[in-house]
Amino acid sequence: MEQTKYTLTEKELPRQWYNLSADLPNPVPPPLGPDGKPVSPEMLSKIFPMNLIEQEVSTERWIDIPEKVLEILSLWRPSPLYRARRLEEYLKTPAKIYYKHEGVSPPGSHKPNTAVPQAYYNSEFGIKKITTETGAGQWGSALSFACTFFGIDLKVFMVRISFDQKPFRRLMMQTWGAECIPSPSNLTESGKKFLSEDPDTPGSLGMAISEAIEMAISDKTGKTKYSLGSVLNHVMLHQTIIGLEAKKQLKLAGEKKADVIIGCAGGGSNFAGLSFPFLADKIAGDEIVVIPVEPTSCPTMTKAPYSYDFGDTAQKTPLLPMYTLGHAFVPPPIHAGGLRYHGMAPLVSQAIVDGLIKPKALDQLDCYKAAVTWARTEGFIPAPETSHAIAASIEEANKAREEGKEKVILFNWSGHGLMDLTGYESYLSGKLVNYPLPDEKIKESISVLQSLPKI
Ligand SMILES: Cc1ncc(COP(=O)(O)O)c(C=O)c1O
Repeated sequence: MEQTKYTLTEKELPRQWYNLSADLPNPVPPPLGPDGKPVSPEMLSKIFPMNLIEQEVSTERWIDIPEKVLEILSLWRPSPLYRARRLEEYLKTPAKIYYKHEGVSPPGSHKPNTAVPQAYYNSEFGIKKITTETGAGQWGSALSFACTFFGIDLKVFMVRISFDQKPFRRLMMQTWGAECIPSPSNLTESGKKFLSEDPDTPGSLGMAISEAIEMAISDKTGKTKYSLGSVLNHVMLHQTIIGLEAKKQLKLAGEKKADVIIGCAGGGSNFAGLSFPFLADKIAGDEIVVIPVEPTSCPTMTKAPYSYDFGDTAQKTPLLPMYTLGHAFVPPPIHAGGLRYHGMAPLVSQAIVDGLIKPKALDQLDCYKAAVTWARTEGFIPAPETSHAIAASIEEANKAREEGKEKVILFNWSGHGLMDLTGYESYLSGKLVNYPLPDEKIKESISVLQSLPKI
C-alpha cells in the first residue's frame, strides 16, 4: 500500500515561529499615523497588547512558541501532510501533489494557529475582553474557540452577507461563548454611518474592522483590545508553524524540496504560513515557484496598485503598505467570504515587490469545479477559499503533464467547507456566476488612494 499521510508526533512540533522580516531583501515600509509619520509601538498599544506589538515590529528570525500555546495547538497539531494520489491519477499528471490539511482543527481551518497565541498574549497582558471582525466566520469561530481557554469575553462583528449565508458559523461562535453581531450594526458610530449611506449594504471586512476597533478603543479602562485574524506581521508569524511542519513532512515523504508552493490569499495568512519558511530557502538560492491565489472579483495582488492604505473603511487603522483596491471597496458577494478583503498583508506585498512570489487570480466557477473534482477524488469537501488553491494546483499539475515534468507541488488546504454548503448548492444547481471586476470599477475604488502618502 502506498503512503497517503505523513504525520509527525507531538514531540516534533516546531518550538519556534519563523519571521520572514529577518530575511526579506528589502524591509517592509513602516506603518504610518494620520500625520504621515511612522506610528510608534505606544500608539498601537491602544488597540493591541504590547507583547503582540513587540512581535509585530520584531526582526528576530526565530521567536519561541510559549509552552501553554503548544499545549493547546497539540489538540490538532502537527496537522497531517497528505499526498493527493487519487487526484494525480485522475489528472494523469507526473506531478506529485501534496497538501497540508489545516481543516483538522476544531473550528476547521488554519485560523486557530494565530487565535490561540493571540488569546494567550492578551490574557498574559491582563485583557478581559476582545473585539474582532469575521468574514466567512472562520476567524470569528477560531477566536471564539481560543478565548474559551483563557476566560476572555469576545464580541465578533460578522460581515452581513456571511451572517445571512452562514448561520452555522454564528452558532459555533455562540457555542464557544462569543457574541456574534451582523456588521454594519447600530452598536457603533461607524456602523450607523455605513447603514445611513446604504441600508442594504452586504457589508465588508473593512467595515467590520472599523466597528470592532471602535468598540475596543472606546473602553477607557484599557481592558478591551482588538484582534485581527490576518494581514499583520504577528499573524503571518504564528501561521509559519504550518510551513515548518510541512518541511519536516516532505522529508519524511522522501522529497528534497518543493518545486511549486500554492496558497489562497485573503489577507495573506494561510499562504504566508505555508510559504514563508520555504521563501527563506528561495532567498538563499533554491528554485521554487510560489503562488498566492485570489478571486478575480477581488484582484488585490493582480490588478491593484502597491500603496499606503487604511486597513478598514472608517480609516481607524494606521496606514499600511500593501497592494490594495482602496479601503472603501465593497467586493462582490462571492462565496469565498475570507477572500473578500481590499488589501494584502504588508509582508506578502513586499514579497511580491521583491519578485519572490507570483500572484494569480481565478474565477469562482473554475474554483467550484476544482472543489467538486477534489471532493470526488480525494473525498474531503474544501472551503470555498481553499478551492482557489486547489484550482491553481490542478492547473500546475496539468502544466507538469504538458511539460512531462515530475514536479513536487505543495499547497495549503486551509479549511473544510462543511459549513459552506449553500455555495455548493448554488454551484450544483447552476445558479452561481462569476464576478470579474471591471477595470472601471477598480479605477474608481483606488481613487481614494490619491490623497494618501506615497510609499
Ligand atoms: C478557509 C479559509 N482559507 C483562507 C482564508 C483567507 O484568509 P488568509 O488569507 O488570512 O489565510 C480564510 C479566511 O477567512 C478561510 O476561512
